[in-house]
Amino acid sequence: MRIEILTTLPQVIEAYVGESILGRARRKGIVEVEAVNLRDFAEDRHRTTDDAPFGGGPGMVMKCEPVFKAVEALKARRMGAQPRIVLMTPQGRRFDQKMAEELAAENYVIILCGRYEGVDERIRQHLVTDEVSIGDYVLTGGELAALVVTDAVVRLVPGVLGDETSPEFETFSSGLLEYPHYTRPADFRGHEVPEVLLSGNHARIEKWRREQALTRTLERRPDLLETAPLSEEDRRFLNELRESDIH
Ligand SMILES: C[S@@+](CC[C@H](N)C(=O)[O-])C[C@H]1O[C@@H](n2cnc3c(N)ncnc32)[C@H](O)[C@@H]1O
Repeated sequence: MRIEILTTLPQVIEAYVGESILGRARRKGIVEVEAVNLRDFAEDRHRTTDDAPFGGGPGMVMKCEPVFKAVEALKARRMGAQPRIVLMTPQGRRFDQKMAEELAAENYVIILCGRYEGVDERIRQHLVTDEVSIGDYVLTGGELAALVVTDAVVRLVPGVLGDETSPEFETFSSGLLEYPHYTRPADFRGHEVPEVLLSGNHARIEKWRREQALTRTLERRPDLLETAPLSEEDRRFLNELRESDIH
């Protein structure tokens, strides 16, 4: 998988994607993540990527030319590839695990980071394929948002997390919030690890974890239970929980 992030601040992107699990995946060649400097595609000698808005008003707007030229150059480099072109914007579709899974199935994604007041509307209308928001708040630029999306997508690419972790049972992937985790010591300042986790009985541990996931989800995100795949046993357990809550 290849992700190219178009930005006026490539060093911000590089600082994060060079580290940790993303950095390791990159070095192993499992994923390619590249920050592309929009200023390299500006037409004037000051390498300008923004201009004042038509109609007046505060702030600056990101210009069409550098963005279109950058995307065209990147696509030409990949000879005819048709990437998803994702614009980071607070006005976009809300990013979630499902969208991360959808993007992780792509071979090639270009992410465009806005700055200032955002991008010229013609970029949105005639270039991008997806508009994505990471939440109902406004950031100063799209870089952090692009990193959130990149991180969530890349860790789903097979081989990135290695054998030690599987994203499949995690919060949201299974439709539920995940069960709680504990590590050594078994007794920390009198706070003990649930006995079942020390029992070595895998069937009991599995049952406990499933029940914990169901309990957490019911308490914190009952909306998820409407679409989560549930067995008959899960439903029985949830009904008992709801009953015991009432009494
Ligand atoms: C200050 S914001 C522009 C907000 C724009 N004037 C508006 O009201 O919709 C600058 C840039 O930050 C990014 N950004 C800000 N908040 C975001 C969010 N919640 N999700 C994704 N990107 C965001 C976008 O790339 C945006 O173009």
